[in-house]
Order: sequence, then C-alpha cells, then structure tokens
Amino acid sequence: MLAAGREVVVLDDLSTGRADRLPHGVPLIRGSITNRRAVRRAIQHEAGITGVMHFAARKQVGESVQRPLHYWGENVGGLQVVLEEMVEAGIAQMVFSSSAAVYGQPTMADPLDRISEATPCTPINPYGATKLAGEWMVGATAAAHGWKALSLRYFNVAGAGSADLGDPAALNLIPMVLEALDEGRRPMVFGDDYPTADGSCVRDYIHVADLSAAHVAAARVVEASHAGPVSRSPQEKLQHAAARAELAAARLPGGALAVEVASQVPAAAEAAASRAIHRVPPAARAVERATGALPFGLGAAGPSGVAGQATELVVEVASQLGSLAAKVAGVEEPPRLVDHLAVNVGTGRGSSVFEVIEALRASVGDDFAVDIVERRPGDPPALVAAPDLALALLGWRARHVLQDMTDSAWAAWQVRPATR
Ligand SMILES: NC(=O)c1ccc[n+]([C@@H]2O[C@H](COP(=O)([O-])OP(=O)(O)OC[C@H]3O[C@@H](n4cnc5c(N)ncnc54)[C@H](O)[C@@H]3O)[C@@H](O)[C@H]2O)c1
Repeated sequence: MLAAGREVVVLDDLSTGRADRLPHGVPLIRGSITNRRAVRRAIQHEAGITGVMHFAARKQVGESVQRPLHYWGENVGGLQVVLEEMVEAGIAQMVFSSSAAVYGQPTMADPLDRISEATPCTPINPYGATKLAGEWMVGATAAAHGWKALSLRYFNVAGAGSADLGDPAALNLIPMVLEALDEGRRPMVFGDDYPTADGSCVRDYIHVADLSAAHVAAARVVEASHAGPVSRSPQEKLQHAAARAELAAARLPGGALAVEVASQVPAAAEAAASRAIHRVPPAARAVERATGALPFGLGAAGPSGVAGQATELVVEVASQLGSLAAKVAGVEEPPRLVDHLAVNVGTGRGSSVFEVIEALRASVGDDFAVDIVERRPGDPPALVAAPDLALALLGWRARHVLQDMTDSAWAAWQVRPATR
C-alpha cells in the first residue's frame, strides 16, 4: 500500500505479528480487534481513515478444532467490533482476508476441477466456518450501509516478499520442509496414492507478493466503485477517476498502450492525465503544479476558482482516459462492485507436493530425501482456484511461478532471526 502511494495505520495485538516488520513511520496501535477502544483509536486516527483492510485472525486449522470458541470470538466477534466501529465512523470501504478454507472439501464432478466462486462453500473445520461467517457479516453490512467490500479467498500463500519478511511460523508445506531439513529430519509427504498425476496432493500456491498486489488492486476497485453517501470533494473525485483509469490501464497489455492512449488527449492535460493513469500521487503533483496548491490530504485545490477548475479538468481527463484505455484494450468498462463480492486469489495452476519438493531441492541446492507417510485425514486430492473473476474484476493475475516462491522462502529462511 505504501508503494502504491497510500498512507496506512496498523492495528495489531502482536500475537503473531512483529512491530519491527513495519516500515519506518507507519503508525502502530497495539491492541486487539476485540477491544473496542483500540479499534476506535485506529478507525478514528488523525490520518483520516477511508477504508479498512482486515487481516487480523487466528488461522491454525488444528487449533480451531481444539478451541472453536476462541476462533469464533477472535475471527467473528473481533470482526463485528471492527464493522460496528466502521459503521459508527461512516467508513464504507473494506477488503477482508478470507480463505479457500471456506470451500472445505468441495464436491465436484471431477476432483481435479478448479474451484470457482460459484462452488458451494462447505467448510470442514471451525477456522473455515469463521471465515465464511466473516464474509457473510461483511456482505450483509455492505448491503445495509451502501458499502463497497471485497472478500479475498486466498489459496496457499507461499514465499517471501523480501528476505527479511519470511514466514515466521512453520505451518505450511514450504517452511515445514525447511524446518525438517534444519533439524536433520527427512521432510514428510502425506500420501502418494491420491488420484493426481504423481499421487501427491495438489494445491494452488500463490506468492505473497502477488497476494499483496491483489490487495492493492482490490482497494482500487473498492475505491473506484464507491459511490459515496455524501458529495465528494474535487480531490476525492480525482482519486476515484484516477483509480478507475489506473484499473483500466492495468488491464492493458504491458501498459504500453496506456501511453499511446494518453497521447490522444488534449495536449494541455496530457502530462497530468498520463500520470493519473499510473497512480494517484503523481496526479496530485500534476494538480499541484497546475494550481500551485498542496497535494491530497493537505488542503489541496479548493472547489472554486482557478484551482478548482484545474482539478476538475484533470478529473475529467482521467475519467475519459479510463474509458478510452478500456476501449483500446478491447475490454469492457471495469465492472462495478455493487456491495460485496468474494473473489478467489490463486494462480489457477496446481502444484503437487512432489513438485514443491523438487522446486525446493533446486532452491536449496540439495537433493534431499523425503519420507512418504499415511494421508492426513481431511486432505482433499486437489484444491486449485479458478482465478477468472479476479482478472475480470480486479484486473489482477498472479505473476510468480513456484520456483520464485521456493527461492524467496529459502532466501528468507537463511536470514531468519534466531528467536523464530
Ligand atoms: N497465510 C495463509 O496461507 C492464509 C490463507 C488464507 C487466509 N489467510 C488469512 O489471512 C489473514 C492474515 O494471515 P497471515 O498468514 O498473515 O497470519 P499472521 O498470523 O501472520 O497474521 C495475522 C496478524 O493479525 C494479528 N492479530 C491476530 N489476532 C489479532 C487480534 N485479535 N487483534 C489484533 N491483531 C490480531 C497478528 O498479530 C498478526 O500480525 C488471516 O485473516 C488469515 O486467516 C491466510
């Protein structure tokens, strides 16, 4: 979000998170989402919160079976507090971390079929149930209060965005293998007799950097679709128009066409508009240059006079550019989000456990051996996302392949802090 030019405020109880992972200067409010006062402090932060990305949750399937009420209390009770405080503060934009766990063991004609958002949700453990209940609560609130909200159903998140941001817990396949190697054990493969190509389970692994990009794209869509209950300021209009234009530009092959499209707009506004399609802050700078006013959030160009007219001009150009870019790219206008939608976030490509092991062998540079053991109860043969809605709605698709995930996980593993 910072790289996308957004300001963020973080609320975290640091139960599994670590304060030293936040980039310098990001405000951290330490407190639980179940604590109304802490949530209120975050939501009413002086930075001026316009939307919420909700990640905070307990996420261990086994623990959720042992302590279901704890999971319902944190994941659903905590979410309720966040939603109530958002309603109270009039914040109407949200991105919620859901999970492929909402699908449970989907019953499909062919167990290797990909899972779409239309696949029935039948969670098989309390963790998955809390995520589905969370989606329902977000959806109902969005419908009742005119919000724009997206629930992102992550598939198997893997890899590290940078070497200092490795997965701190060995709960997923890749860190579990690396931990076993560290401890001089042979990594275990649970079952090699599944009805898949090589007999091991197939999952859709998604690089955490791609997941991050999906969140930025989701925020843009939520923002661009947000009608807003009150009339918007010129700055807000510009942000919306730029977000729509940016979304359309993201759908252009390579983005090269965006520049071509930019050259078709009136020369006077061309520079501002071509920047507006890339991101909002440059558009803010363009307005600033044109008007001598300050950028967003600092009392920029007012609604009247020369400054206001200049802002309106850029709004208009950015919005026309968005439509034009979509036409040139041969795509529909970016679909508008009505209130809430759940969207799969996966690559659409499955990898078997043996393929992950092979990729890890290449990353580590060691042809390590594995032990094949019994299947684990409740493990479906294959869980692979159909990511079509993410592409259509968010203009997003995963860019990284499995080897990127194992390489980055290994790089991070080698420099992990000793306290892990
Ligand atoms: N990692 C995955 O593979 C995966 C897959 C699907 C969905 N998800 C979802 O993504 C979200 C983030 O998962 P993650 O893998 O980054 O987990 P994580 O444990 O690394 O991060 C969760 C963060 O929330 C904080 N937190 C937990 N409970 C809190 C509370 N009550 N109040 C305030 N902060 C709290 C933790 O300190 C931590 O910083 C979760 O909602 C999870 O269910 C993760």
